[in-house]
Amino acid sequence: MRIDHIAYRVPDRDATAKFFVEAFGYRIEDEFCIDFEDGTSAKCYALSPPERYSKTDFAPPDWASLGKISEYHVPPEIFVSQGTEASVVQEWVQKRDNVGGIHHIAYQVKDVHAIMKEWTEKGWAEFTTDEPIVAEGIVQCFTTPHPLTGIIYEFIYRTNKGFNINNVRDLLESTEGL
Ligand SMILES: [Fe+2]
Repeated sequence: MRIDHIAYRVPDRDATAKFFVEAFGYRIEDEFCIDFEDGTSAKCYALSPPERYSKTDFAPPDWASLGKISEYHVPPEIFVSQGTEASVVQEWVQKRDNVGGIHHIAYQVKDVHAIMKEWTEKGWAEFTTDEPIVAEGIVQCFTTPHPLTGIIYEFIYRTNKGFNINNVRDLLESTEGL
C-alpha cells in the first residue's frame, strides 16, 4: 500500500511547513481552515512532494486505487494542522510537550469499506466510526491509536486530488481525544 499522506499536528504550522519546503523540497499545495462547532478551529496546509509522475510514465502495481487521478507521486503528501486556543488539535499538541508530532499515517486503498471489514474481522485494529466517512471524491476512515505502534492509521480512497474540508472536520472530530 502506498502512503497517501502523513498528518502532523504542530504549534506553528508556518514554521513546520517552511521546514518541509526548504529541507525536503515540498511545496504548499493547499491551505484551509477547519471550523468546529465549539467555536475553535484548525489551520491546515497540504504539501505535495517534488517527485511527480503521470500514469503514462510507468506502471506501479496498483493503478486502480488511483481512480480518475492522472498524476501520481511516490512520496506521501504532508498535512500540517495548527489548532486555535482550546481546540482538539492544540490540546493534542500540548500533551506532547507542545511540539506535536505525527497524528496519523494514511494509506491509499481501493476499497475503504472492505479494509474496515477485514481489519475488524481479523482484529488488526479498531476504528473510530462504524462506516467510512464519505464525501464527494473521497472516502476515509481512522483506526484508534494502534496498540502495537501508537499510531492512528487512516485508509483513504480519492477520486479527486486534494482534501474535502467537511471530511477533514469529520475525521478530526472522530478522533477527538485520540
Ligand atoms: Fe488524513
